[in-house]
Amino acid sequence: MSKHHAGRHFLQIPGPTNVPDRVLRAIDNPTMDHRGPDFGRLGQDILESLRSVFKTAGPVIVYPASGTGAWEAALVNTLSPGDAVLMCRTGWFATLWQEMAQRLGLQPVFIDGDWRRGADVAAVAEHLAADRAHAIKAVCVVHNETSTGCVSDIAAVRRAIDAARHPALLLVDTISSLGSIDYRHDEWGVDVTVAGSQKGLMLPPGLSFNAISEKALKAASSARLPRSYWDWQAMLAANASGYFPFTPSTNLLYGLQAALKMLNEEGLDNVFARHDRHAEATRRAVRAWGLEIQCAEPRDYSSSLTAVRLPEGHSADALRATILERFNMSLGNGLGILKDRVFRIGHLGDIGDLQLVGTLGGVDMGLRAAGVPHRAGGVQAALDYLAGNA
Ligand SMILES: Cc1ncc(COP(=O)(O)O)c(C=O)c1O
Repeated sequence: MSKHHAGRHFLQIPGPTNVPDRVLRAIDNPTMDHRGPDFGRLGQDILESLRSVFKTAGPVIVYPASGTGAWEAALVNTLSPGDAVLMCRTGWFATLWQEMAQRLGLQPVFIDGDWRRGADVAAVAEHLAADRAHAIKAVCVVHNETSTGCVSDIAAVRRAIDAARHPALLLVDTISSLGSIDYRHDEWGVDVTVAGSQKGLMLPPGLSFNAISEKALKAASSARLPRSYWDWQAMLAANASGYFPFTPSTNLLYGLQAALKMLNEEGLDNVFARHDRHAEATRRAVRAWGLEIQCAEPRDYSSSLTAVRLPEGHSADALRATILERFNMSLGNGLGILKDRVFRIGHLGDIGDLQLVGTLGGVDMGLRAAGVPHRAGGVQAALDYLAGNA
């Protein structure tokens, strides 16, 4: 039997994130007729408001699926069997997307990485320049690699594609960056943006998204990978009047409407600044503890999460278990090659200063309780930064 803990559980994994009460209250409405007139109005409002979060004038599709579904939708709608796709192994999630591409019958060309920085844009440029026959049909990049806390420069990837005069589509995963880190679908010339509900959008898991460029729509008309449930055409036809070709996640959509209002009220730029500030405070705490940040390239630091390396010979999973047991806080685990080597502090979504300070306080006490060598003063360093940068 699990032990009772007074007070709230601290869910500080890098998604799913804490769902604000206002969003929970919205979800907690009677389920509506998804073919009735009220639903059409809700659908139209959501599909319209979503565009500003992706910064696009084009359509955004909503699937009742986790982020993995939207990954698959992006690939099967735009590509054909045997197509080469250029992908960057920035971490665990980039690896999973590559494995999916392989299973779908695509031919991924994987640019390797050390999981400590964003995508290698120079290598992308080299591959595209060498591909004179234009065999590569898409470049796929994870904007914020949730396993490492490293961000890739999507605008630079676009510039590399343009400089090579290469016609490849640009597909970007923003599952842990949308609504947390600055992102611009249209301005950066992204063809398909993949996103999910359970991180910056402050919803429970269960919705995912494709924002689609005109070029991607055109590619969809000749793409030959088999697709049915994920097919954009049927979705876009129904979405024109605010409806779906199948039963949508009606109650999660109430929540999405409320979350979009909240983001709009705070203002996206303020949302990004809040995430940047919390990430900086967290990094100052980590440095003061004398621990190492997994992201080795300051330019690529993530504002959604910070992955922290443990000193050699110490277990990140044992530390997380101690923190959960003693302080009722969940932190993210190390994935793939980082298993047991790092723990990840999620500082994305609906988080205020005091939640962040509580989170860092839990890590600080956990380091002591688990006997992980560190210096005192991490929380103080974060407090000094937050207080001086109100
Ligand atoms: C960057 C990234 N891509 C893809 C996924 C997979 O999404 P899901 O688990 O919602 O299917 C995740 C999940 O955490 C993620 O962080």
